[in-house]
Amino acid sequence: VHILESFAEAWAELHDDFVDRRVFVVVDAKLLKKNPRCLAKLPARVRRDSFAMRGGEACKSLRQLERLYAAARERGLDRQTLVVAVGGGTVGDVVGLFAATWMRGLPWVTVATTSLAMADSALGGKTAVDWGGLKNPVGAFHPPRAVYGVREALETLPLRHLRAGLAEVLKSAVIGDARLYRRLEREAARLSVDPTASAWVGVLEAAARVKGRVVREDPHELGPRAILNFGHSFGHALELSHRPRWLHGEAIGVGMLAAVEISHRKGLCEAAFRSELAQVLLQLGLPVRISKIDEARFWSALAGDKKSVHGSVRLVLTEGPGSATFGHVASRPQLRAVLRSLG
Ligand SMILES: NC(=O)c1ccc[n+]([C@@H]2O[C@H](COP(=O)([O-])OP(=O)(O)OC[C@H]3O[C@@H](n4cnc5c(N)ncnc54)[C@H](O)[C@@H]3O)[C@@H](O)[C@H]2O)c1
Repeated sequence: VHILESFAEAWAELHDDFVDRRVFVVVDAKLLKKNPRCLAKLPARVRRDSFAMRGGEACKSLRQLERLYAAARERGLDRQTLVVAVGGGTVGDVVGLFAATWMRGLPWVTVATTSLAMADSALGGKTAVDWGGLKNPVGAFHPPRAVYGVREALETLPLRHLRAGLAEVLKSAVIGDARLYRRLEREAARLSVDPTASAWVGVLEAAARVKGRVVREDPHELGPRAILNFGHSFGHALELSHRPRWLHGEAIGVGMLAAVEISHRKGLCEAAFRSELAQVLLQLGLPVRISKIDEARFWSALAGDKKSVHGSVRLVLTEGPGSATFGHVASRPQLRAVLRSLG
């Protein structure tokens, strides 16, 4: 994973991979509109063949996958073609699945353009689209050959998305890097408003290192990788049930507070950690209280959590910054009490 300053640097890094081969660049259309020069330093033949697609959750569909197949046929892509996904987690997920399936698999690289993608979604090789009202049921493990993050891209990203990605950076800090956690405590206020802050490159690299370490140990999500779901059981249920709707990262922030509260109630960590974490979330410009939820949706989402076994929720809990363990069970009354404590 390389976090670079500019698109020009990313294209320079990829230059040798572009020689003597077809390249199929798929770029997020919103990014392209806000930064029309983002592809300017690509070789002209590569730019001519590029394809702009609308990003956002709606693009993770079989229909979009078909549009990519049609574009691939039109351009006559061959088995050696290098696919390059330029966008956030949604473009990365659908283009990754395209690369995994077209002609039984093409090599790909990803150039991540959101804070969430750089810290999290671009790493680990999971690709997917949504289907039948479900999130990510159709997918494949197809790791990109390389992941580039571009700090410059953060300058055009809506502030709310910039901040939502910081929740995943904070998650990495809590589960695996106490130094990153302390750094976030110091830099949170600045990062949440300033996409040009010099701390960005360092914190994104540190977060990516935590995820990289975990997925190398468990590339196919058979066990230890579950730790990356810290804050996600509660968070995902909140993402589906909170009104007004929260972005994934916003919900995960509150989900992490819930996980810390349960950790404290089980005697794993100090009470002070919860207020500390809430303080960091506030400085990152992220919510810390629940305003209103659809309870039925909340409980059914929690029961359907992918880590649940026979209806009991299994959680990732923490002993404090830099440490987390998986497999803790919490009862419904315990979860209800924690939900109440959050608003
Ligand atoms: N594969 C994985 O392991 C993994 C892990 C976590 C999340 N995800 C997935 O990631 C997705 C969320 O990704 P995301 O938060 O990056 O959202 P996103 O891709 O939807 O991007 C957010 C919005 O910003 C726009 N955008 C992207 N880059 C931009 C830029 N630089 N400037 C201006 N606008 C820009 C997009 O068009 C979109 O409207 C979810 O679908 C989630 O399932 C995947």
